[in-house]
Amino acid sequence: MIYIKSNRELELMRESGKLVAKVLMSLAKAAVPGTKLIELDRLAEEMTLSFGAKPSFKGYIGYKHSLCASVNEQVVHGVPSERILREGDIIGLDFGLNYQGFHGDSAITVAVGNVSDEAKLLMSVTKMALYAGIDAARAGNTVRDVATAIESVVKPHSFGIVKEFVGHGIGQKLHEDPQIPNYAAGASSVKLKPGMTIAIEPMVNRGTHKVKVLADRWTAVTEDGQLSAHYEHSIAITDGEPEILTAWESVLNDADSQELVNHLKERSKYGQRGPNPA
Ligand code: MF3
Ligand code: CO
Repeated sequence: MIYIKSNRELELMRESGKLVAKVLMSLAKAAVPGTKLIELDRLAEEMTLSFGAKPSFKGYIGYKHSLCASVNEQVVHGVPSERILREGDIIGLDFGLNYQGFHGDSAITVAVGNVSDEAKLLMSVTKMALYAGIDAARAGNTVRDVATAIESVVKPHSFGIVKEFVGHGIGQKLHEDPQIPNYAAGASSVKLKPGMTIAIEPMVNRGTHKVKVLADRWTAVTEDGQLSAHYEHSIAITDGEPEILTAWESVLNDADSQELVNHLKERSKYGQRGPNPA
């Protein structure tokens, strides 16, 4: 069942989305060489609670943390540990929270210090795939149109699109209908309507699309050990332009975040040159 959100519900989705963006920006800032994954998880949880919100992932089918932190060949659902980030790593930060009954869910992949050109390309292609998917998320289009848009960005690079994990509706539950696969053949012809809110989240591997899950029963890694990237936004379908609920732009006016966002925008264009923001 697909829920159409009322204006009041959309207002709450905007609020929770903004908070998600704030947390992700802070996490991106903190993801520098020497940082432990568990410290990022703690930061995410502390910020969330300070907003009067609840982490969406903690307790979700037994997941014990607030953040999923997936490093290098880890695709999604990386479990925060004592692992220390090193120069050259890329880290997928996937985070959701529940504010006044409504969830926001978003993910970014960031470079830890200087990373390889291959990593930069993978990240920028995955991010462009997300934005292409968002651009196709318009009333009258179908779920398959979104998937097709994502696939068409990735295909020319011969990267692997992960099939096992998909985007989803989002609202009072973290995962609602419909499922939003990142490849056309897996997608439905469900029509998008104004008031639907969905999370679009392409996961793209440098090599094979195939993944396996580690013995911790959460961490998904690429089968061939090559790098993977993941970006996600929660969005609302409108009468016109798709509305990004978890946009980093929404924290642009926050003085603390201003410099950081500019920096991230700069390095996410085509290169993740230069050091992480201090
Ligand atoms: N952001 C992911 C998703 O959209 C991860 C949630 S899985 C959890 O589905 F168990 F960690 F919550
Ligand atoms: Co999600």
